[in-house]
Amino acid sequence: MKIATILGTRPEIIKMAPIIAEIDRRGISQIVLHTGQHYDKEMSDNFFRDLELPSPDYNIHVGSGSHGKQTGLMMKGIEEILLEEKPDIVLVQGDTNAVLAGALVAAKLHIAVGHVEAGLRSFDTTMPEEINRRVADVCSAMYFIPTEESAINLLAEGLSRNDLIITGNTVVDACFRHLEIAKKRGFEEESLAELDIENMDNILTLTMHRAENVDVKERVTSIIEALKELDEMNIIFPIHPRTKNMLENFGLFDELNDLEHVHIVKPIGYLDFLLLTSKSTLILTDSGGLQEEAITLDVPALTLRYNTERPETVTAGGNILVGANKDAILENANFILNDDEFAQNMRNAKNPYGQGDAAEKTVDAIEKFYSEGLLDIKAPEDIMTSFTRKMALINEDVNVAEFEQKENALVHMVFDGQNMKFPTDDTNLKGMMISYDKRE
Ligand code: UD1
Ligand code: UDP
Repeated sequence: MKIATILGTRPEIIKMAPIIAEIDRRGISQIVLHTGQHYDKEMSDNFFRDLELPSPDYNIHVGSGSHGKQTGLMMKGIEEILLEEKPDIVLVQGDTNAVLAGALVAAKLHIAVGHVEAGLRSFDTTMPEEINRRVADVCSAMYFIPTEESAINLLAEGLSRNDLIITGNTVVDACFRHLEIAKKRGFEEESLAELDIENMDNILTLTMHRAENVDVKERVTSIIEALKELDEMNIIFPIHPRTKNMLENFGLFDELNDLEHVHIVKPIGYLDFLLLTSKSTLILTDSGGLQEEAITLDVPALTLRYNTERPETVTAGGNILVGANKDAILENANFILNDDEFAQNMRNAKNPYGQGDAAEKTVDAIEKFYSEGLLDIKAPEDIMTSFTRKMALINEDVNVAEFEQKENALVHMVFDGQNMKFPTDDTNLKGMMISYDKRE
């Protein structure tokens, strides 16, 4: 079996690292293809170094550009490589343009696509990421899903539960493994050593790069107004290149940089960043990955967005959506800083993203699918066309596997009267309303 991983940006490198390492550990043949969407040393090479990854086998060097141009260049480059390498499965991660390009190209070449971190939905179609993740999910054959909630999104879109594998999120694997290494090593980044973070109190780690925030002057201005008032905090702001460019274009960079309690530094390596976040009193961010890391590291997060495709972090109590609204940012930050019980409840929020074994579960499932021939794209004559979708209230003591066998059916959704549930083979159906596909 040969596995091809396509990645292109900082978070994809971080979240695919545990899977690449696991594939390597099992001696499975693999190639890693970098689209080159992120190319600065601080956004790419440093992560290969910190996560102990070999250099990618290919780099298409697409660089920056409009969505159409960037995606088009990626598709052309990825197609050439996949035609040459002929992998059995292509893995893409998350919701960037690399995911869109990789999934589309592979699906059209009749190569199975495995979508890591599948099923997330913000339902906000103004976000390029929402379009990317939806398209990738249409193209995929296997779905590696962080939580039951995201799996239900995919069931609601009509996918078969057999292709949905709930793994947790590989960010937990990366976080647990590398925080230990980071703690032994201490801060290495020059800019952080200069700031003497080890001895600082009241650290607020800030990241923002989301187009809908940093490309809109009123929104950035409103966030900066809130930062000005948080002057009892040491705000450490590793700035994304997009954000630096936009702040400079808006003439806001110097104003922010001049604030004594705000320390703007270059994007920092993963080990230093994990140490920084784990020492923080509060995280202010619009990053997807950081919402997950905050709840993994028990640090309260305020998310600079009005919606999130990670609602589990909010319902668990570890994350609050404050948008770009100055008053909401300040009100919630002050609760966290001044109300011990409030802050402790946020820190105690249960991590919904698993135990740190997502990579192992992902590769287990790929090996199983491969050995059972499930990665082969079905020929037209092998596609089952005749089934009826039904709903029923189940009165008998029967589990999903038994029901499916007896009825020659595939259970789709399970509703316990209050919540949708993800049907596993041993889910007991007594008293449940279910929908199922009855094969003719
Ligand atoms: C991309 C992803 C986003 C992800 C983020 C992770 C898409 C649509 N967006 O956003 O989902 O959350 O990566 O960080 O795929 N730039 C540099 N050096 C670099 C990379 C970028 O200077 O190494 C600058 C360029 O001016 C570029 C801008 O940042 O135009 C934006 O980069 P781009 O990759 O288009 O989008 P991100 O905002 O990084
Ligand atoms: N990160 C990092 N250094 C930084 C900022 C972020 O290592 O200076 C890591 C962070 O730990 C997280 C990931 O980058 O795992 C998030 O990437 P980003 O916010 O760029 O993208 P998103 O997750 O929003 O797609």
